Amino acid sequence: MRILLLTRSFNSLTQRLFVALNDDGHTLSVEFDIADSVTEEAVALFAPDVVIAPFMKRAIPESVWRSHLCLVVHPGIVGDRGPSALDWAISDGVTTWGVTVLQAEAELDAGPVWATRCFPMRQATKSSLYRNEVTEAAVVCVREALAKLDAGTAPVRPPADAARSLPLLRQAQRHIDWTRDSTETVLCKLNAADGVPGVLDALFGVPCHLFDGRAATAGDVPSHAAPDTVLARRHGAVLRTTGDGAVWIGHCRRDDQAEAVKLPVALAFPDEVAALPHLPGDDEIRYAQHGAHGEVGVLHFAFYNGAMSTTQCERLLAAYRAALRTPARVLVLAGGPDFFSNGIHLNVIEAAGSPADESWRNINAMDDVCEAILTTTDRLVVAALQGNAGAGGAFLAFTADAVWARDGVLLNPHYKNMGNLYGSEFWTYTLPRRVTQAAPKAVMQNRLPIDARQARSLGLVDVVIEAVFDADRAQFLPVVIERALAWAAAPEFEAQVSAKARRRALDEAAKPLARYRDEELAMMRRNFYGFDSSYHVARSYFVRKTPPSWTPRHLARHRDRPPAGPNA
Ligand code: COA
Repeated sequence: MRILLLTRSFNSLTQRLFVALNDDGHTLSVEFDIADSVTEEAVALFAPDVVIAPFMKRAIPESVWRSHLCLVVHPGIVGDRGPSALDWAISDGVTTWGVTVLQAEAELDAGPVWATRCFPMRQATKSSLYRNEVTEAAVVCVREALAKLDAGTAPVRPPADAARSLPLLRQAQRHIDWTRDSTETVLCKLNAADGVPGVLDALFGVPCHLFDGRAATAGDVPSHAAPDTVLARRHGAVLRTTGDGAVWIGHCRRDDQAEAVKLPVALAFPDEVAALPHLPGDDEIRYAQHGAHGEVGVLHFAFYNGAMSTTQCERLLAAYRAALRTPARVLVLAGGPDFFSNGIHLNVIEAAGSPADESWRNINAMDDVCEAILTTTDRLVVAALQGNAGAGGAFLAFTADAVWARDGVLLNPHYKNMGNLYGSEFWTYTLPRRVTQAAPKAVMQNRLPIDARQARSLGLVDVVIEAVFDADRAQFLPVVIERALAWAAAPEFEAQVSAKARRRALDEAAKPLARYRDEELAMMRRNFYGFDSSYHVARSYFVRKTPPSWTPRHLARHRDRPPAGPNA
């Protein structure tokens, strides 16, 4: 079928559908929902069999849904209507939620149902539920809807009394009463608003939106602490007491500064936070050993949104070096549950006095981590992708000896979308060694996401670990650890480590890693400090979520010019 994806942005759900439907053999194009006239033009140019709207903030124009079948992906159960579906589901503490694919009609979310799926709710942020359960269910629902369409099966109109229409969840309803609300309630409110819009609140007397709440452990909170007190700091986060305990708040966006972006609290309020006592510990980086003699070490680095600032890279490097001092024969880099990594921290860079200088520091810190992995010759390193990896975060994974990915994970192994960044992370060294089915340049030029299976067929991923149950992410790391233990115990293990060390030595003799790094960084220096400011412009748009004013040509294929004819 010819399918037009009409969407507000090319977000993770849209990317996942794009990859899945492309894989199913459909012909796809994408148009951003910018204006009715633009949508009408896209439909006229592409002449789709069906329009699918995975992520919309407003109605599809009547002229389009009257003339074309339009399927809307709604992140809610049958009968649910409204713009804050997941927010309400989290706030109300429902135990089961779902995704429904409905046909667009005059009334929003009220059309006949083509497919629906339910899933058990997890205590997690809205964005985590969206990127995982909602996305998995949406792919299944859209495939089912297309199969029904193909078979001529009609959709089902749910009974009118099944309708539950809820309005936009407003800040007044999200309000936290820090003196009374329990920790559970506070976390529920923060989770229902993460990553957008956040909870409107205040820190140090300054209005701001809060994000990234985490429960404190008993040891973090002194028993005499009064509610609503900011007690301590740990790396970027601050500890604030609730009615019955405390939560760590990792990120905020100040509302007293016009251009403020979402930042670690310690960066948004540097002086205030510096004055707080530092509680030792690390909620982001954790190392766990497995096997009778710690043969497998798993390094978790769950950075918010997968973004890795200079200091986070430095802490990760220290943790990696500490892991090298353990007996682990196989070291697993596990990233975080939602993202493996998305590369350098664009928000922290944006907020720096000199974004160019901070970009430079950040990419160097990132390269230090990559170099430490590449020069590990006494054991094997596995990158285990539980979640998506983008730009430098994908290339961080490729520095490992093996890349194992959860089925369904998306990779964006290119830097082009960030203002044509050249990229570093030793991609000029690792990519030609990995890519077997295409030219490395073609991988870098391709601005589109690929899924784990496509990445495997390109040679970027070595093993795809399939889910036994639909959308069961929890089993991924246990399977990884089991495989890593088997690898560490395999008779050929020592020979593999020796072969790796020999290969590294030969490669180093042919061209030192330092030269790859210098060459890449020379290009990055131009991106950061040069005449062409595309990277700075793209970053500013990205961190401020500036609505697009046009759909990039690599997505809007219907806007491709026809090849010039002989008389052109
Ligand atoms: N730095 C800071 N924040 C980042 C980030 C980065 N490198 N990458 C992603 N994020 C943030 C987004 O701003 C968004 O924030 P929110 O919580 O306020 O909504 C969140 O992570 C999720 O990102 P989103 O774009 O919604 O996720 P996605 O799964 O739809 O798309 C990517 C994934 C990787 C395609 C996209 O996030 C991206 O292009 N990131 C930038 C990668 C990059 O260029 N890195 C720098 C060069 S190494």
